Amino acid sequence: MKILLIDGTIIGSKTGAILEQVKVYIEQLNGELKLEILKLSDFEHQFVDGRPLEKYNDDMRLLVRKFEEAEGYVLATPIFQGSIPGVLKNTFDLLHPRTMRYKPVSIVANGGTHQHHLVVENQLKPILDYFRCLVTPNYVYTTTHHFGEGNVIVDQDVHDRLRELARVFVQYAEMGKNLSKETIDKH
Ligand SMILES: Cc1cc2nc3c(=O)[nH]c(=O)nc-3n(C[C@H](O)[C@H](O)[C@H](O)COP(=O)(O)O)c2cc1C
Repeated sequence: MKILLIDGTIIGSKTGAILEQVKVYIEQLNGELKLEILKLSDFEHQFVDGRPLEKYNDDMRLLVRKFEEAEGYVLATPIFQGSIPGVLKNTFDLLHPRTMRYKPVSIVANGGTHQHHLVVENQLKPILDYFRCLVTPNYVYTTTHHFGEGNVIVDQDVHDRLRELARVFVQYAEMGKNLSKETIDKH
């Protein structure tokens, strides 16, 4: 089962560091999941403007393929201007609405301030609900003070929450295995 761990930004490195840690925790629980970290910063992005898919560059088409082939996702986003990065929203806009249907998704987010943790609830989750994802009930929000030298996560509580996120994600992945293939709803 292919799981994409998406670093949803082209600026900064803390979300990437969180994903590396989540990857370790998922691997400890289930060695059979094929985990791949996908960094939006590795892609040459184009604005989604309604053109047919074949008119986008190779990177944009690769993004679509990666999302379609994956059977689950861990999404990492920083908070920018009280919201998610434009490049992440642009990536969502690129996808067919059924791409992530009934597939498990866990969210990790990092902001400069605690005050913006509800961006996950108010802005990211509604998008994933539109896609009808199986969003795990727990997500992990970090801020700068949870990190030490070299972006190592130094906060024990964050580690505990990431381990718990991984535990729930692995079970959602099991649940989503057949559910995503069995859809009869074409709308
Ligand atoms: C353009 C921009 C806007 C930001 N807006 C917010 C914000 O509204 N709320 C917030 O908590 N952090 C905000 N931040 C901080 C980031 O969420 C995050 O903490 C920081 O980019 C981490 O960067 P690093 O991975 O390079 O350490 C913003 C950062 C940037 C670059």
